[in-house]
Amino acid sequence: MTSAPSSSDPWAAIDGHDVARLNDLFDGDSERLKRLSFDVGGIHFDWSKTHLDPDLIAKFDALAEAKGFAAKRDALFSGAIVNVSEGRPATHVAERGQGSPEDVAKAAALHQRMRSMVDAIEAGAFGDVHGLIHIGIGGSALGPELLLDALGRDVGNYGVSVLSNIDGQAVDDATDPHDPESTIIVAVSKTFTTAETLMNTRAAIAWMQEAGVEDPYGRVIAVTANPEEAIKFGIDETRILPFSEGVGGRYSMWSSVGFSVALALGWEAFEQLLEGAGEMDRHFRLTEPAANVPMIAAFADLTYSQRLKCKTRAVFAYDERLRLLPSYLQQLEMESNGKSVTAEGEPLDRPSAMIAWGGTGTDAQHAVFQLLHQGTHLLPVEFVGVIEAEDSQDPAHHRALLLNAFAQGAALMAGDKSEDPYKNFPGNRPSSTILLEWLDPRTLGALIAFYEHRTFVQGILLGINSFDQFGVELGKRLARELDDPEHREKFDVSTRALIEKAGL
Ligand code: F6P
Repeated sequence: MTSAPSSSDPWAAIDGHDVARLNDLFDGDSERLKRLSFDVGGIHFDWSKTHLDPDLIAKFDALAEAKGFAAKRDALFSGAIVNVSEGRPATHVAERGQGSPEDVAKAAALHQRMRSMVDAIEAGAFGDVHGLIHIGIGGSALGPELLLDALGRDVGNYGVSVLSNIDGQAVDDATDPHDPESTIIVAVSKTFTTAETLMNTRAAIAWMQEAGVEDPYGRVIAVTANPEEAIKFGIDETRILPFSEGVGGRYSMWSSVGFSVALALGWEAFEQLLEGAGEMDRHFRLTEPAANVPMIAAFADLTYSQRLKCKTRAVFAYDERLRLLPSYLQQLEMESNGKSVTAEGEPLDRPSAMIAWGGTGTDAQHAVFQLLHQGTHLLPVEFVGVIEAEDSQDPAHHRALLLNAFAQGAALMAGDKSEDPYKNFPGNRPSSTILLEWLDPRTLGALIAFYEHRTFVQGILLGINSFDQFGVELGKRLARELDDPEHREKFDVSTRALIEKAGL
């Protein structure tokens, strides 16, 4: 898959880079920790336990230059077309006030409409509202669900469920906790054609109808970039919250897609989220590469995926409130950069994004860390924690949690030599550590924007368009075709047998 390095290949210097052992990197550079740790937007980042070194960073700088990175970043922030296969800009930064003046003004107007809806609900336009069912899938659910789960624990205004899976059990689980009379449905779909979201919205409406709610459609708020489809579905225009076509699904929580978040956490919290992300945007746009945290993170990721041929990277949230971070990152990173063609449609001659996976500490330590410490695979690990505990949390637990995270990073790097092969830990295993000073909308906004830009940098350096997702279309089409007996004959024997076995 990898092309042979040549002097005209901008990757050649990185492919040929002599990667030292982590302990030696520390021994050889007393400034290493200082050089590779940064504080931005209330977040501390430490890449000193990765195999990056100043020379390697300089090689990535040269690669970025050869790839026209600065102009491409400018294109993102100016609202130019960066999603070339679909002929669209990617305007999520404008939602945070950081794009072109026109895009920022458009986003502000749509936010205003969203805010009016929050105010209307709070003023009783939908009667007494106690429950909220957010229906969407992929980018229309993962971001909002992460935010609600991370920040919504102590906010008691509304009981919120997020419904994404097409499984009827998921529908029951989402509706059961609610009283149909005092619940609203927020149906979120950029296209408003996604099968799961439409089917689940119909099911939630039927749940209201069966309970005798007079006008269930009147209790649905649709969030979409395709209002015509929402109107066709039966939603009145006054209850549609549009967002821009340039806002991609997995980059959309900052737009009206975050409506449930704004309602449940309050408008002020939503604004703080945007401000935190905006701070990271400015850092990303204006900071030189050697201190630019999304760039340094991307350089580390590419060291592992390209130079050391790692196939996966793992993210462990050492904070229960961030337990959904790995699922959110899976879509962000894998849907953005899991591609075999370049932005120009040429075959990609390098490995694409690593597989992202993870879990929560300390649970993961007792389940998957065996392989991380002693398995034959090399993979980068990321620890994400929060320094300040919630007032309601027992400080002893919080202390134990963070100490565990730090111990794992130290153990992975240092290892523990033993004559007994069962007890030998080879060490030299990389990790990065990200510590939020505290968890609030601002720091979480900055953290998520950091991950978005980190993904973007990798896309540019690999030559991938991070903003399309054609790879999900085939399965969707075949699911529709399988539903039609006339089309089934063209399917393989195994698939037809499975349909028969399931009696479908
Ligand atoms: O199937 C993938 C996908 O298109 C994602 O990119 C998107 O976030 C999700 O489906 C939901 O799409 P929509 O918001 O249009 O319902």
